[in-house]
Amino acid sequence: MYIVKGAMLASICAVTLAGCTQQAGEAMPQPIEVSDATGAISLPEGFDRWPTLGAWATASAGPDTPVNELHTVYVSPGGIESYRKDGVFADGTVLVKAVSDVKAAPLTTGNAHWAAKDKVWFVMVKDSKNSHKDNPLWREGWGWALFDAGDPSKQVATSFEETCQTCHEPAKDSDWIYSAAYPVLHDGEPKKASWDPN
Ligand code: HEC
Repeated sequence: MYIVKGAMLASICAVTLAGCTQQAGEAMPQPIEVSDATGAISLPEGFDRWPTLGAWATASAGPDTPVNELHTVYVSPGGIESYRKDGVFADGTVLVKAVSDVKAAPLTTGNAHWAAKDKVWFVMVKDSKNSHKDNPLWREGWGWALFDAGDPSKQVATSFEETCQTCHEPAKDSDWIYSAAYPVLHDGEPKKASWDPN
């Protein structure tokens, strides 16, 4: 079971105020349970109110077709700070990529697209200790999971190898994450990645 780091800070602060850097009145993150003893991952409650790591707009039918999906990536509280400090996400950090249909309309900015109906949620849980060797969804320092909007209570990925690996191979050298696309991790500077042909 993973408890997000900020939650541990909250309980430490409750026990002793010495060394607690949290400002009075600042909202304390609540403990978030994302996996059980066997490594079965569930969709974390309230993830859509977590900080956003970044977003993607995709034309999934091909490069010259209209944008038809938005991908919004959320990170559990404290995750951004851990990455900016150590260059890797701290154990227990949870990433959720929410995929939605889009609506589009000519607005005052141009041909604007915005998130409409939820389709699926991809979830990753950082686990540098590879704690669940017997579970095929825990590999390469992460727990991997997929949920369909039709039934968010059911995890539907079969294994890391079958459901996730091939597509994340281009980002293998950055801990399997397309991290260069998230300026908040790099002081707002765009970062060049091996998967980026620009
Ligand atoms: C069809 C290819 C494909 C498959 C299959 C796939 N991913 Fe991804 N994933 C990507 C790409 C490409 C990105 C970043 C760009 C985007 O979202 O369009 C991404 C981004 C993510 C992100 C946001 C963090 C990041 O790496 O930027 C998470 C979380 C994620 N994927 C989890 C998963 C999990 C868990 C699985 C398996 C259950 C999976 N993905 C399967 C291609 C894929």
